[in-house]
Amino acid sequence: MAVLVTGGAGYIGSHTVIELLASGKEVVILDNFYNSCPKVLERIKALSGKEVAFEECDIRDKAGLDKVFEKYDIDSVIHFAGLKAVGESCQKPMLYYDNNIGGTVTLCQAMADHGCKRIVFSSSATVYGEHNVSPLKETMTAGGTTNPYGTTKFFIEQILTDIEKSDPEWSVCILRYFNPIGAHESGMIGESPNGIPNNLMPYITQVAEGKREFLSVYGNDYDTVDGTGVRDYIHVVDLAKGHLKALDKAYAENGTFIYNLGTGCGYSVLQVVEAFEKASGVKVPYKIVDRRPGDLATCFSDPSKAKEELGWVAEKGIDEMCADSYRWQHNNPNGYED
Ligand code: NAD
Ligand code: WQD
Repeated sequence: MAVLVTGGAGYIGSHTVIELLASGKEVVILDNFYNSCPKVLERIKALSGKEVAFEECDIRDKAGLDKVFEKYDIDSVIHFAGLKAVGESCQKPMLYYDNNIGGTVTLCQAMADHGCKRIVFSSSATVYGEHNVSPLKETMTAGGTTNPYGTTKFFIEQILTDIEKSDPEWSVCILRYFNPIGAHESGMIGESPNGIPNNLMPYITQVAEGKREFLSVYGNDYDTVDGTGVRDYIHVVDLAKGHLKALDKAYAENGTFIYNLGTGCGYSVLQVVEAFEKASGVKVPYKIVDRRPGDLATCFSDPSKAKEELGWVAEKGIDEMCADSYRWQHNNPNGYED
């Protein structure tokens, strides 16, 4: 029996594939390389010492998905495939609704047609919207998302919940990630953004590597410890391990389950810069600029439900996150593009 990993060539997917293989699972990666490249597959093979099945396919392609389900004995899906750039989603909402929502519905249809009814889904802390106050708990009302990307995650959560309600043979595990950073400690796989990074850590590592002159810190007048935005950064390997626990849950029980995956600790932008400089030994010049529209002052999780029900806790701290992010960037200055 195999686990189908959609978006398995991407940042979080590739780290999760490594953990799945290490635990002895059979894995099939499915990706269309929209935001990733084939080189990651070689790295996965080198790191794991295993040959991994790969299918180049778009999750919106029902006939393609059917072929994949016919070819392999797939009994669960970890669904990472999706577009994730907040700004781009405001410019191209139809692309985001089609790819993320349309793609998920097509995937679920293919799963149902082949009797595969276990799914672990990549959701996001963004579904808590603006109105909830941190620490964010799964019992809080989600919604009030502020951009099409976030809305796709909120809608997909609803869709998956409705599918399980309509057919109680389904098991749906919704994971709300906070801010994944870091990389595999080998420095062989990591986050490889196209163009100018949108997120804090890839921007910092590119400044440290001399690819960008300075970091723009988006506002220092928030009501936080030093005025800069506070987030719950989580090491991508801890996050990957959370998927294995969620998969165990999906095998053990039918139903819809929602878990935050975060550390429960918030760090400000300047605290991250300081931790990064300490871990890397490299200075990160920065300038304070205007706030970024749509940003919240503070966002961090209450991760206690995942601890109680899945037995999962994040183990790696901010120093390790920074050291591993830097190692990846330093070893691969252009990411996978070399
Ligand atoms: P990523 O872009 O590195 O990985 C996503 C992968 O999905 C890519 O390899 C891409 O090529 C593939 N993909 C996209 N559309 C596809 C399609 N239609 N068919 C097949 N493959 C497709 O992103 P990531 O950071 O690894 O994120 C994985 C998931 O986690 C996404 O759904 C994202 O929204 C979600 N998430 C990410 C973060 C974050 O900060 N990285 C936070 C919360 C949630
Ligand atoms: C973190 C902090 C910025 C860049 C986004 C998505 C969210 C989720 C994770 C997928 C904030 C500040 C950033 C920079 C800065 N993705 N910052 N200079 O905004 O918490 O979340 O990624 O689901 O949906 O919205 O993450 O890394 O962009 O920002 O000062 O160049 O760093 O203002 O306070 P964010 P981020």
